[in-house]
Amino acid sequence: MLLKHLVPALAGAHLATAQELMRFGCSQLTIDRIDPLVEPGNLPSSHMHQVIGGNSFNASMTPESHDPPTVSTCTSCTYSEDFSNYWTANVYFKARNGTFKRVPQVRNLGLGVEAGMTVYYIRGYQPTAQVTAFPPGFRMLVGDSMNRDASKVPHGLCFRCESNMDQNPFGGAPCTGSDIPGFPNQACGGGWRVTVTFPSCWDGKNTDSPDHKSHIAYPASGTFESGGACPSTHPVKIPQVMYEIIFDTRQFNNKADWPADGSQPFYWSMGDNTGYGIHGDYLFGWKGDALQRAMDGKCSGDRCSPLQRQTDQAAINCVKGQSAPENIGDDQWLTSLPGLQM
Ligand SMILES: *[C@@H]1O[C@H](CO)[C@@H](O)[C@H](O)[C@H]1NC(C)=O
Ligand SMILES: *[C@@H]1O[C@H](CO)[C@@H](O)[C@H](O)[C@H]1NC(C)=O
Repeated sequence: MLLKHLVPALAGAHLATAQELMRFGCSQLTIDRIDPLVEPGNLPSSHMHQVIGGNSFNASMTPESHDPPTVSTCTSCTYSEDFSNYWTANVYFKARNGTFKRVPQVRNLGLGVEAGMTVYYIRGYQPTAQVTAFPPGFRMLVGDSMNRDASKVPHGLCFRCESNMDQNPFGGAPCTGSDIPGFPNQACGGGWRVTVTFPSCWDGKNTDSPDHKSHIAYPASGTFESGGACPSTHPVKIPQVMYEIIFDTRQFNNKADWPADGSQPFYWSMGDNTGYGIHGDYLFGWKGDALQRAMDGKCSGDRCSPLQRQTDQAAINCVKGQSAPENIGDDQWLTSLPGLQM
């Protein structure tokens, strides 16, 4: 029954105000080969990422010495007190002749930002529940860049092949219906909507862990959406963070460019052509108690009075050059994926 409520609640473009589901756009901050969470200090890191949020994003962001709201001078997210960083791998198309081009991202429905991602902070469907905002220094990872097994993709990470850019008909909540855990293997007339959802329970003590995952957990039974309780090891209910990325694959829909044997032409930037290596990284950086105010104020959508909002143009203007400069394959076809021998 609760799931029935979830379907309209998550229907992206058409949010009612009372659903306690913050949804806001963030423009592309940078596309760079650095990863302060998994490969701190490595310049360049092993694979390319696309990043949104505060412009203090850097190869090394040690929690003790790097406070994103203090060090950033702008954010590419529309809520201007949010200097967090959110990042994922990039998607590339491999043409029949063996060269690669980056699949562009586009804004999501109803938002005025450019490229980047749509970020959700979901308070959940128990109106009285206490939801605790992340503390400074908090970071987490979901998914596994090395995974190539469909059955090991966590619930809440998925791909939707859209038949048109209006996402119409809208297929319900993310990772339901015909959504799949890997790359669609057909030409999609409306590109892909990719969803990356993080666990919603925290151990209440550690802001990070060696695998960047052990300090967070899924509900003990059921799902976050169905109101499942947190396990005793991770008793603190945190906002459920979710990313939506719209990859505009339309310029790659010509089957004559696809491999002749019918195999998959799309690759994550770490060289994965299954899609199952889908992963997302999060580094908390809200200013002061802004995120807690948003949770307590039951904020929804991308306008909420406890929070400050900048213009879409100001978010678009917040960009950062590459720390590890290289051709990312937007204007010309690359003979190999950045950093890889393939
Ligand atoms: C980013 O890292 C460089 C070294 O790679 C350092 O010089 C710079 O101060 C850092 N910037 C921030 C904002 O932390
Ligand atoms: C490779 O294929 C792409 C897509 O068809 C084409 O645009 C590009 O010119 C080709 N490159 C070479 C070197 O043939």
